[in-house]
Amino acid sequence: MTVMLEVRALHAYYGQAHILFEVGLEVHAGEVVVLLGRNGAGKSTTLKSIAGLLRPRQGLVRFQGERIDGLEPFVIARKGLGYVPEDRRIFTELTVLENLEVGRQAPRAGVPVWNFARIGKLFPNLAEMPHRPGGRMSGGEQQMLTIARTLMGNPSCILLDEPSEGVAPVIVASSTRWPRRSASSSARALRYCFRNRTCTLPRRWAIAPLSSKRVGSRFRAAWRP
Ligand SMILES: Nc1ncnc2c1ncn2[C@@H]1O[C@H](COP(=O)(O)OP(=O)(O)O)[C@@H](O)[C@H]1O
Ligand SMILES: [Mg+2]
Repeated sequence: MTVMLEVRALHAYYGQAHILFEVGLEVHAGEVVVLLGRNGAGKSTTLKSIAGLLRPRQGLVRFQGERIDGLEPFVIARKGLGYVPEDRRIFTELTVLENLEVGRQAPRAGVPVWNFARIGKLFPNLAEMPHRPGGRMSGGEQQMLTIARTLMGNPSCILLDEPSEGVAPVIVASSTRWPRRSASSSARALRYCFRNRTCTLPRRWAIAPLSSKRVGSRFRAAWRP
């Protein structure tokens, strides 16, 4: 199987605080990998380091065979690596359609092209409110919009940070159904990031536990496959 995303011996810091120590993982095409770890274990930091929002001090990140560590987030996004932040960051003054337009990128060879019609099939709630401003949507609807905006970039791999946070159970159920379909139907790789295992994950998803312990005043996070 093709390696879509590869992280090797990654070290990340916030200022002087050393947060990630030698994090490494591989995600293959068509695979869904779920990152599990307690609050503060470094899940979001791992995703931010991959997406370019936090520049790793050491280690490498390879996406579709190409080094991407050290690149700007927008450059990484244009290469087809989608990132859905935990804090949603939708534009509250813009409508659903306008928010989606912000995420639009040119079609990419070998991956599905997303448009509003296709988004509407995935998230029927969004199809019913194309002109609703982001600020007047429920938390669950905003979460769908955040995912949909990233899909509009026609990504070949998606990083989702806490997609179930603050979302009704029915939406959590559908948000675990579609990546499985999507991953198998279009060779997409997806990475999920969950604080708690609040929903039953499909059996064939790979689980990557991120365990952590303090070493002196430092925070150590390491992958235990
Ligand atoms: N912007 C930041 N500045 C300094 N420390 C941070 C920042 N964001 C997170 N941290 C610290 O990094 C560690 C990992 O956080 P995070 O990656 O958000 O964990 P998780 O997503 O697994 O809950 C925690 O100790 C947290 O306090
Ligand atoms: Mg987090």
